[in-house]
Amino acid sequence: LAPPLLDAQGRRMTYLRLSITDRCNFRCTYCSPASWGGKRDMLDAAELARITSIFASMGIRRVRLTGGEPLIRPDILDICRGISSLPGIRHLAITTNASFLAPLAVPLREAGVNQLNLSLDTLSPETFRRISKQGDLATILRGIDAAAAAGYASLKLNAVVMRGVNDDEVPALVAYAHERGITPRFIELMPFGQGTPVPTAELVEKLQASGLPLEPEPDDEGADAASLTSGPARYWRTASGRVGFISPLTQNFCGGCNRVRVASNGDLRSCLGGRAQAPLHQLIRGGATDVELAVAIRRALGDKPDGHRFTEPGNGATLLSMMGIGG
Ligand code: GTP
Ligand code: 5AD
Ligand code: SF4
Repeated sequence: LAPPLLDAQGRRMTYLRLSITDRCNFRCTYCSPASWGGKRDMLDAAELARITSIFASMGIRRVRLTGGEPLIRPDILDICRGISSLPGIRHLAITTNASFLAPLAVPLREAGVNQLNLSLDTLSPETFRRISKQGDLATILRGIDAAAAAGYASLKLNAVVMRGVNDDEVPALVAYAHERGITPRFIELMPFGQGTPVPTAELVEKLQASGLPLEPEPDDEGADAASLTSGPARYWRTASGRVGFISPLTQNFCGGCNRVRVASNGDLRSCLGGRAQAPLHQLIRGGATDVELAVAIRRALGDKPDGHRFTEPGNGATLLSMMGIGG
């Protein structure tokens, strides 16, 4: 058995985020690049399964597919079957904008996906257009209802909160999610595009003031049990259910990081805010063996930064767009 995948700080990597496309049918203000990178080579379903199996042999137990919009890929069900059937992989999750989800909710479940994170920032069609530029809110809401009916082990709703855009909708989004058995999570905007973030503490205060008393969950309970170690969200409890907050700006969670990423072009990134490291797709096309790939992966993780630097002046502009890295 291969030894576990540790980074230079001794953090153990158990969670792989695979961005499977940089394409998206939306152009969210906080995500889209100013200029489009053009067509890029993407890993095919067999290559994704091969890379994941190498990570699994080093202790990765949980995989999340991201994008761009992952459900845009015509081979999405093949990708999911290939990954969910690998020995060692206990959880397969997807983060999606839900616009293609209605017909796929059940097939994805059958292909081994057990968790979905659904991006929804607003319940207002006008605000939706303002944020995403394209797309149709009603189709998304149908996709979310289909997911709620399909028997997933975990459904979460991700809302990126922007001042003056959707910060007045937090209580409505909590109610919408809880009515469907979904856990809402509010995310501090990271500097990848436009918009002004709202600190988590302010949102918690506003929710309390709106008549929704929140009690913090103890850390061990708040950590998503299925993510093996704590994910970035911290959870609170209300009478109607849990509410999560992801606070990369005001409550950096890098110390407990268990994540490694492969971007849509096949580059390994040991940190969301770090630089591209091992070019796994290039290595595969050059005929690298599994052992050579594993060596490249371990070497890259040895270089994992201790944390992101989003809050340092001037760093926002140097970050790649979210679309190719997958958040
Ligand atoms: P779980 O597996 O359910 O814990 O999902 P997640 O919250 O890690 O993933 P999701 O794709 O739903 O992302 C939610 C938000 O967290 C997005 O804004 C991501 O960009 C952000 N996020 C996820 N992982 C990291 C990370 O390692 N660092 C930072 N700064 N943000 C992250
Ligand atoms: N800051 C925080 N979250 C972001 N996302 C996309 N761009 C940003 C950003 N700049 C979120 C999406 C999706 C997840 C993959 O990342 O809303 O839920
Ligand atoms: Fe597409 Fe998601 Fe980015 Fe919006 S946030 S443009 S839905 S990938």
